[in-house]
Amino acid sequence: MHAPSSNRYTVVAILLHWAIAALILFMIWLGWNMEDNEARFQLHKSIGIAILFLSVARVLWRWRNPPPPLPDDMTPWEKRLSHGVHMGFYFLMIALPLLGWLLVSTSRFQVSTVLFGTVSWPHLPFTEGLRGGVVHEVTEFLHSKGAWVLIILLGLHVAGAIKHEVAAEQGVFKRMIPGLFGRPHSPPPAQGYAIAFGGAVLLFAIIAAVPLMKSAPPAPNGPGATGAVSEEAGNWDIDTETSEIAFSGTYQGKPFSGTFGRWDATVLFDPEDLEGSTVAVEVQPGSASTGTKLYDDTLQSGEWFDTNTFPVVKVSLINFEASPEGGYTAKASLLVKEQAVNVPFDFSLIIDSDTATFEGTTTLSRAAMNLGQQSDPGGDWVADEVTVTVKGTATRKE
Ligand code: HEM
Ligand code: HEM
Repeated sequence: MHAPSSNRYTVVAILLHWAIAALILFMIWLGWNMEDNEARFQLHKSIGIAILFLSVARVLWRWRNPPPPLPDDMTPWEKRLSHGVHMGFYFLMIALPLLGWLLVSTSRFQVSTVLFGTVSWPHLPFTEGLRGGVVHEVTEFLHSKGAWVLIILLGLHVAGAIKHEVAAEQGVFKRMIPGLFGRPHSPPPAQGYAIAFGGAVLLFAIIAAVPLMKSAPPAPNGPGATGAVSEEAGNWDIDTETSEIAFSGTYQGKPFSGTFGRWDATVLFDPEDLEGSTVAVEVQPGSASTGTKLYDDTLQSGEWFDTNTFPVVKVSLINFEASPEGGYTAKASLLVKEQAVNVPFDFSLIIDSDTATFEGTTTLSRAAMNLGQQSDPGGDWVADEVTVTVKGTATRKE
């Protein structure tokens, strides 16, 4: 016998039920199997936030489309238990992602979250003072045990669904499965699409506004973009189109590389007066771009370049000397997060009347620059050594 249409869930409720159920089961497995695997961590966070979104929509949907009444042949305590399990599920569907979010936000290691590799996800506001403290530990406990509570509820839930399908006259299972396998599906009229999904989208738009408001106003890319270096002081202009500052290293043994989009340089260089030559460079580390959003976001975070507090890295080149092989060497002094680091910088230079072509490299230590020293001081993930390459052309000023 088919259930009458009024005794079924709406198609939207059914889709949300099974999508969320499948995602939650996958999430529990993933939660237990993601240690030391950053890609899985990111996936766990991405799907978890997606579950939060779907659950908000689902709760709003249920408010506009109340579930069909439970079968009459269920005893009052069965109805209460069933209702209690469902409410427990709704609570956990919202609470577990929120706890996960709080967990990440209060971690000593401020790991960036990039949902599905594309959307930067902020940490919860007002959690700065809670990092690494007791709140973090309690959250970790609740998030981990919450998954077990969910498993227990699931046991009761599945047992109830089977019992009422097999034993009770009316059954409940058919209320929650789509109209497949020839089973006619005449769902009840649905309403509140805009409220459920619009409401969930609105909530997430509000959350998304936080990082957008924090991020720096867009600035033009390329050399000359910081606008902070005096134009008059130098005798060479760096050509925007052809010049770049690039960096490379390894992450879990795999090479990565990127460039800084925004930097500026004042070049005072004369091969005949090496002692009087100086080069001042200002680089905006917030413009680092590797092609992988997670890396870019991580580089900006507090433990790395902390670009909100220190938007500029200053570099000066002095003590130029001609090297016997034909190029030059200079002393590069970097000021990273107000900490000075000195390294030698070797470069080649060809001056053809008013055009100079240069290329130089140096190796820097993350530890010396105090980058990522809380979460990865030993260079287990990101190798300590980073190579920086500067190349391009410059034009002699009139
Ligand atoms: C319905 C959604 C979620 C479920 C069912 C879930 C489930 C789990 C489970 C079973 C674990 C393993 C816990 C353990 O080791 O005992 C875990 C760990 C973790 N989850 Fe979730 N999670 C959810 C959402 C989230 C979200 C949204 C985030 C972050 C945005 C998150 C962040 C984490 C983190 C960081 C850990 C590692 C905790 C640690 O071992 O210190 N989770 N999760
Ligand atoms: C983590 C996984 C699951 C979660 C979070 C979950 C959650 C829920 C919730 C909250 C409801 C109540 C809907 C409402 O009336 O508002 C529900 C109903 C239902 N679920 Fe699940 N469920 C899960 C897995 C399953 C599984 C594996 C089955 C298959 C046996 C199942 C079968 C049903 C059925 C038949 C109903 C309809 C019950 C009724 O008519 O009262 N669910 N589920």
